[in-house]
Amino acid sequence: MAGPPLSERAEQLRALISHHDERYHLLDSPEITDAEYDALKRELVAIETEHPELATIDSPTMAVGAAPSGLFTEVRHEVPMMSLDNAQTEAELRSWADRLVRLAPELELATLRFSCEPKVDGVAMSLTYEGGRFVQAATRGNGVVGEDVTDNVATVPSVPETVAAETAPFPKRLLVRGEIYMPTAAFAALNERQLATGAKVFANPRNSAAGSLRQKDPKVTAARPLAFWAYQLGGGEPEPEPGAGEGADGWAPVTQTETLAQLRRGGFPVSPDATTVVGIDAVLTRCRELEEHRHDLPYEIDGVVVKLDELDLHRRLGQTSRAPRWAIAFKFAPEERATRLLDIEVSIGRTGRATPFARLAPVFVGGSTVQLATLHNEDQVALKNVRPNDMVLVRKAGDVIPEVVGPMLEHPDAPKRRRSPWRFPTVCPSCGGPLVRLPGESDTYCTNIDCPAQRIQRIVHFSARAGMDIEGMGEQRVVQLVQAGLIDDPADLYRLEAPMLVALEGMGELSAANLLGAIEASKRQPLSRLLVALGIRHVGPTVARALASGFRTLDDLRSASLEALTVVEGVGAVIADSVVGFLANPANQVVLDRLVAAGLNTEQPRAAGVEAPAAPDQTLAGRSVVVTGTLDGYSREEAEAAIVARGGKAPGSVSKSTFAVVVGASPGTAKLTRAERLGVPVVAGDGFDQLLASGELPDA
Ligand code: IVH
Repeated sequence: MAGPPLSERAEQLRALISHHDERYHLLDSPEITDAEYDALKRELVAIETEHPELATIDSPTMAVGAAPSGLFTEVRHEVPMMSLDNAQTEAELRSWADRLVRLAPELELATLRFSCEPKVDGVAMSLTYEGGRFVQAATRGNGVVGEDVTDNVATVPSVPETVAAETAPFPKRLLVRGEIYMPTAAFAALNERQLATGAKVFANPRNSAAGSLRQKDPKVTAARPLAFWAYQLGGGEPEPEPGAGEGADGWAPVTQTETLAQLRRGGFPVSPDATTVVGIDAVLTRCRELEEHRHDLPYEIDGVVVKLDELDLHRRLGQTSRAPRWAIAFKFAPEERATRLLDIEVSIGRTGRATPFARLAPVFVGGSTVQLATLHNEDQVALKNVRPNDMVLVRKAGDVIPEVVGPMLEHPDAPKRRRSPWRFPTVCPSCGGPLVRLPGESDTYCTNIDCPAQRIQRIVHFSARAGMDIEGMGEQRVVQLVQAGLIDDPADLYRLEAPMLVALEGMGELSAANLLGAIEASKRQPLSRLLVALGIRHVGPTVARALASGFRTLDDLRSASLEALTVVEGVGAVIADSVVGFLANPANQVVLDRLVAAGLNTEQPRAAGVEAPAAPDQTLAGRSVVVTGTLDGYSREEAEAAIVARGGKAPGSVSKSTFAVVVGASPGTAKLTRAERLGVPVVAGDGFDQLLASGELPDA
């Protein structure tokens, strides 16, 4: 395929990159993702390297960042602030190291020392101290001229006002370089506040740090939870000034490791996750380690900055026009990608809850291909302002479920004209019955108990691992069986026979036999599994085990009174109510009778020597805790069950008597606003475990 001639493509790339530089550095409002930007830049670097005659003096590959915005006074950097070349693969990192050896042949890669520092995703900052006092902060700008943001940076608590000179001698005039960033938890809390007050929500901690710094009024900056990591003295070549007074001799570190130690002694915050390693293999190990644990750090990183430790080597190896040769940024796989939102659809769960979700053009992000992402509820779709056919930013951080952050309205592939806002359907996509949203609730429900989608989900839940654990009975299979008219409820599973199955598409004799074997085996599951499988509200594995060990047989449980149920440790009035209600429901009774008739085990074996796990302490007795949004490690049901198992209540809405509102990812605004108005304490999602354990509000 013949593209445009290379010279034309280079020209095109230069224009594109300059444009995106401006959006990112000047306007804090990138149109494309970092990954897309990096790809453009790498393509241009490749062309210019292969064909040096095509490089121009004003090429963005020669420059760093963008020119100042005009919002602040300009500052000319005494020592230019360089950018870093980056490596995206191990091979690229090794070839960087090989080049070091070509330039300085006496070096040995196996014994060379490197400083490996987390590449914090924030805003690069140059701080000046005179006579030990903070006098100026400047952004990188284009690397030569930056902007004076002193008043704003002075509000950042971890930027020291004075250098701890007693413990660390420094020259009279000192340049400290580092990164202003926003810790991940503080970022999440800030966005929750922004969301609750209807203010602008930030796409990520970097944007929010940059936006917080680019404020005319330092009071606004002061209200933002910013922090600072120091990682460099001067431009990397700190020289004491002649006659700089105390410490003029011998203050200067000779390695990067010493630089960081010296900064620490001087009272500057230095990342505790920076390590010094020997040999290029150890560098790679450290990079992989940090990538694996990137989400365990309290701040966001997008890579590892690898620096030769010996500062003398920095001077010898020098730099290209834009970046030093002695350092490189090893970039992790991106966790944010742009893709097309193909459509918004609604799925019906086993309780009838209608959850909108995004169908996306497949995109590889955060280690897997993403095609679907939940949009939680009607309000979330409106708040996120996403519409079918939009280009959207998709984020998947590690194991966390993928999320649609919002539309990328100015992305080059964004539609010229957007479709009209998406409307929540008024009828169930499965049964055609009405979808109902009660006032004050954020969720919408299909209230038709016979809805095929609900039936399907109830059978899927029944067969799932935590329930009867029927291998091979996943959602697709259940849909197929329901559509073929073979099953309607869980009890029907036990009436399936080989000839019925073999008649199905894609089902051979062997798979039919396997499936029937798995169904047969499930009959022997203990009572506790059956109780989970039934999908009784508030009955998760813990409560189910407590009930099963308390009553031993299904018969005894079915005839138990409300009072008898509450005698069981970990079962309060709410759970007892829910269980009694479920068992008294005629439709449920029919299914239960048929399950028993099918020959299911209905007893709980006494665990030989193993005590049933103790019911949790009743830390939340009499307290009601409302959960909104998605909590790490808990489904909504599990979170509610955990509250109820500790004696608490987990109602669906906030009232004066609510003890606390726990806020996970993508929370409902109604609950948050109401909590704020009623003065109900709001607990961040990561404080949920502490709340469960102690029954007290976690420290903010
Ligand atoms: S050293 C000449 N160290 O990454 C040396 N940079 O693309 C330049 N960054 O502009 C910087 N953590 O904004 C260095 N430990 C670290 C860093 C770091 C984050 C940022 C910084 C820099 C960019 C390079």
